[in-house]
Amino acid sequence: MKVRPAGPEDAVALSQAHAFGFDSPWRPAEFAALLTNPGVFALLAQLGCDCGMILCRAVVDEVEVLTIAVDSGRRGKGIGRALLTAAMNHAQAAGAVTAFLEVGVDNAAALALYGRAGFRRTGLRKNYYDRGDGEPADALVMRLDFPAGRA
Ligand SMILES: CC(C)(COP(=O)(O)OP(=O)(O)OC[C@H]1O[C@@H](n2cnc3c(N)ncnc32)[C@H](O)[C@@H]1OP(=O)(O)O)[C@@H](O)C(=O)NCCC(=O)NCCS
Repeated sequence: MKVRPAGPEDAVALSQAHAFGFDSPWRPAEFAALLTNPGVFALLAQLGCDCGMILCRAVVDEVEVLTIAVDSGRRGKGIGRALLTAAMNHAQAAGAVTAFLEVGVDNAAALALYGRAGFRRTGLRKNYYDRGDGEPADALVMRLDFPAGRA
């Protein structure tokens, strides 16, 4: 498996990979626009074809994981971990010392991925996600402090 940087020219591939994880994927134009912002970066995982993506935003010494998705037929094989590790390494090399993200309290796979990577709960946002069934889900805010000298 290969993890490679993705720029605005990869907006279609990013949108298609985002659809692996979400019913309402962000459109190519949204990815293209986001990736013109300073500090925003994306990675694509390739295993034969594109099988996953991650999008992050780094501001000064913090990086936020905006979204991550892996092909449902290829989950549980370390692709999400590889994307997250590569993104955090990239952010740390660019000067980040802390990472943040939000995740639904009902998202067991993502909670496992982030917990294994060292993220810890730092806050709770009530009724943060509209799940479309009348029952919004709370979000955990999770934080990871990079060990000094890890990059
Ligand atoms: C979350 C997601 C990206 C994980 O991708 P993945 O490629 O399956 O993750 P990995 O195979 O790298 O697994 C990472 C770790 O989480 C664990 N894990 C993954 N899915 C799990 C599940 N459903 N239940 C329990 N643990 C799980 C793995 O065992 C692994 O632990 P390890 O490092 O000790 O082996 C994927 O499930 C996905 O695309 N979900 C839909 C989109 C989504 O919810 N994104 C996150 C929004 S916050």
